[in-house]
This record gives sequence, C-alpha cells and structure tokens, in this order.
Amino acid sequence: MNKKKVDLHKNKFASSRSSKQKLKKSKRTESSKRWISRQLNDPYVSEAQKRGYRSRSAFKLLQINEKFNLFKSGMVIIDLGCAPGGWLQVISEIINKNKKGILIGIDLLDTDILPNVEILKGDINDENILSQINKILNGKKVNGVVSDMAADTTGHRPTDHLRTTMLLESAIDIAKDFLNEDGFFLGKCFKGGAESSILETLNKSFKVVKHVKPDASRKESVESYVLAMHYKNKT
Ligand SMILES: C[S@@+](CC[C@H](N)C(=O)[O-])C[C@H]1O[C@@H](n2cnc3c(N)ncnc32)[C@H](O)[C@@H]1O
Repeated sequence: MNKKKVDLHKNKFASSRSSKQKLKKSKRTESSKRWISRQLNDPYVSEAQKRGYRSRSAFKLLQINEKFNLFKSGMVIIDLGCAPGGWLQVISEIINKNKKGILIGIDLLDTDILPNVEILKGDINDENILSQINKILNGKKVNGVVSDMAADTTGHRPTDHLRTTMLLESAIDIAKDFLNEDGFFLGKCFKGGAESSILETLNKSFKVVKHVKPDASRKESVESYVLAMHYKNKT
C-alpha cells in the first residue's frame, strides 16, 4: 500500500491546484455548479483518482486509521453502507496484507466486486442480510464494524439529521450483535440534537468513546464520526 501521508490539506497536493479551475458557462443550477466546482478543486478527489480509490471518503478512513491504528492483518470487519467501495479498498489492503482476513460490505446500491471482499446488496435492517452475514461468519465474531451510511438528503436539515441518526443507531445494534470483546465501532454521525444520547449508549458498552473529524471531512459539513473502542458487552 502506498504509505504516502494522507494529510492533503498540509502537503503538496493541496497547493498543486493553485489557481481554481473555472467552470464553462452552462445552464446548470447554482447548487450543481457549486458541487462540480468543489469536486474539480478538491485535492482528495484528484488524489483518489490517482491512487485508484473509488471515493474521496477513502481518505477519511485512512486518516482515522493513521491516528488510531484500528485495522490489522487477519482481522474480521463489517462495512455498513460500503458503496462505491473506497473504505472497503482501504480496509482490504490492510487486513488481507500478510494473512487473509474477512471483510463483508453491505449497501442498498450495487458495489463493484473486490478481491477477498464479500459484498451483500440490501438494507442493513433486513433480516435476510443479517442471516447472510451470519452465514459468512460461520460463528466467528468480528474485530470491527464501520459505518459510513448516510440517508439520502431531503434538504430539510432536521429530517436529514434524524434519518442519519436512525441509521447510526441500527449500525450500533449490529455492532453489538457481532463484535468480539475488545472490538471497535466507527460510525458516521451528523452534529445535532441526538448526539448525546448516542454517546451515552456507546459509553455503556465500550471503554473509550470519541468524536473524530478527519481533515478529509469537509470543514463546512455537519458530518463527523464517532469511534468506540474496547467493546465490553451487550447492554
Ligand atoms: C457515503 S456513502 C458510503 C461511501 C463508502 N464509505 C466509500 O468509501 O465508498 C453512504 C452509503 O450508505 C448507503 N446506505 C444508506 N442507507 C443504507 C441502508 N439502510 N442499508 C445499506 N446501505 C445504506 C447508501 O446507499 C450509500 O451508498
């Protein structure tokens, strides 16, 4: 794996696009123009393309892992909301390095296949998906559950926040079902009202609970991650 530091805000990739790329005049809406302009000028987007990652989100996980050293060779990991597969690529590179681990990715959308990764298509709340996970694991417990799940946004911030919080709660339930003792959980959350109750839930089951905002997560975004380590028990 390329060991290049992934702190792009502070290195050459950030300055390599010194002059902002300009968009040609078109009939696009203002918000789609803003989105395209942001993509064109985002150093993580171009670096993801260079390194063959399927999403710029890959850098968020690389940065979190650089700090907390979560993934190790041979581990068993579940990735909830895995499409298009950037996180799967990062995890697989590490856990399958010396000895083969087990990596299961689940998403509502199609995810292109990756070597040594079990990909399931469906809703994480669907019983059928849970039984497929059980079948793959065949009685094994998992070392980590990660979730980058986000609900489709409606533009109504409280609704979007609530829907993503509900996904986070489902992800935590799955983590509690499958984690082995000392396992970890990493999940996307949005800043807002329900945060403290989630932290309270996690604090009961994990020895260490932190909020994490990697540099690759846009400053202006309400997105952050909650990291819970050293799973104690199911409460
Ligand atoms: C931000 S994307 C994940 C990006 C991924 N981490 C990567 O690096 O490529 C969020 C994903 O969550 C998925 N998702 C949302 N709700 C879900 C659910 N109930 N079950 C499964 N996947 C879900 C969406 O389909 C979407 O692909």
